[in-house]
Amino acid sequence: MPRSRIIGTGHAVPSRVVTNADLSTQMDTSDEWIRSRTGIEQRHWIESGERGVDLGKQAALQALSSAGLEPGDLDAILYATSTPDHFLPGNGVYLQRELGISATIPAIDIRMQCAGFIYALSIADAYIHTGAFRRVLVVGQEIQSTRMDVSTEGRHTAVIFADGAGAVLLEAAEAGERGILAFDLQSEGSHAEKLWVEGPGCLVRPEQWPAELAEGRYWLKMDGREVFRHAVVRMPESVRAVLQRAGAAPEHIALLIAHQANLRISEAVQKELGLADAQTYNNIQRYGNTTAATIPIALDECARSGRLQLGDLVVLTAFGSGFVWGSCVLKW
Ligand SMILES: CC(C)(COP(=O)(O)OP(=O)(O)OC[C@H]1O[C@@H](n2cnc3c(N)ncnc32)[C@H](O)[C@@H]1OP(=O)(O)O)[C@@H](O)C(=O)NCCC(=O)NCCS
Repeated sequence: MPRSRIIGTGHAVPSRVVTNADLSTQMDTSDEWIRSRTGIEQRHWIESGERGVDLGKQAALQALSSAGLEPGDLDAILYATSTPDHFLPGNGVYLQRELGISATIPAIDIRMQCAGFIYALSIADAYIHTGAFRRVLVVGQEIQSTRMDVSTEGRHTAVIFADGAGAVLLEAAEAGERGILAFDLQSEGSHAEKLWVEGPGCLVRPEQWPAELAEGRYWLKMDGREVFRHAVVRMPESVRAVLQRAGAAPEHIALLIAHQANLRISEAVQKELGLADAQTYNNIQRYGNTTAATIPIALDECARSGRLQLGDLVVLTAFGSGFVWGSCVLKW
């Protein structure tokens, strides 16, 4: 059975940088509060008119070019986003169009919030295992800045979430040990409303929209303490499970990339697993929490900076709205 291997990576963020100082002109917050609670120093938010699919396209083209391939070489696209540019169709088909792919390949949207990239990777990996497709592009992309209340009322979430995209290119490898080894995928719907955007969903009639909007129901809402409490337990639990499936242990990890939810969460995960700083990578300081995009952005930075060596054991883990979580272990 072929194994899937990452052969290219890329990422893109909007050019507009929003610092903590910028936010404190819009709401009652401070650089000190944001840094000490979340580790975030700045984030990127789109300007009016910029589209999520444009970020996805830039990330995808980088991933293709780092692998020496063209858009026409793709057999399928998996696009993880919980913030598509339009209600329907999904961003996958828009990316197919933007990349100029005339072949009628499948372009699939995955909506699994902060764990979206890991879920998309797992589906791409399964396609490759079965021989259905040989080259699959996996994108994680989000625009969170337009779904947040940037007044003092919304400061719990507005200081955390941000916009960006990352992409990897997976290819079937017939031989060798390198490639994706195992996944752990979980969800627990009893916590669905602890991190959510309530509407406008299809249960709400258009005449109700103005009232719901005025009640703040269309903003991203989060019970930060509950999210924190579950995230610091579920991610280490999932990492241990996936390592066990791969016949490895935390001391074998060359690089852990945890979803960049919050630096304090990542540090707690690292501590719980007994990992040294050299075994982990964090970039939330510069990007904030870009939901499904955090892991592929970090992976691309590590790949380009030489932080990853051939044969390194890499673990990816994520937790988010749903709650949904999961991990992946691979040999680079
Ligand atoms: C959101 C989070 C940083 C809040 O930190 P916390 O220590 O739980 O803070 P609290 O919610 O108890 O708020 C403490 C105080 O700071 C205030 N506060 C909240 N956001 C603030 C902000 N951006 N700036 C300044 N003050 C703020 C609160 O209103 C509260 O004030 P009060 O004591 O007068 O009521 C924290 O809960 C967290 O990191 N949660 C996980 C979030 C996450 O990672 N989400 C993504 C998952 S994918």
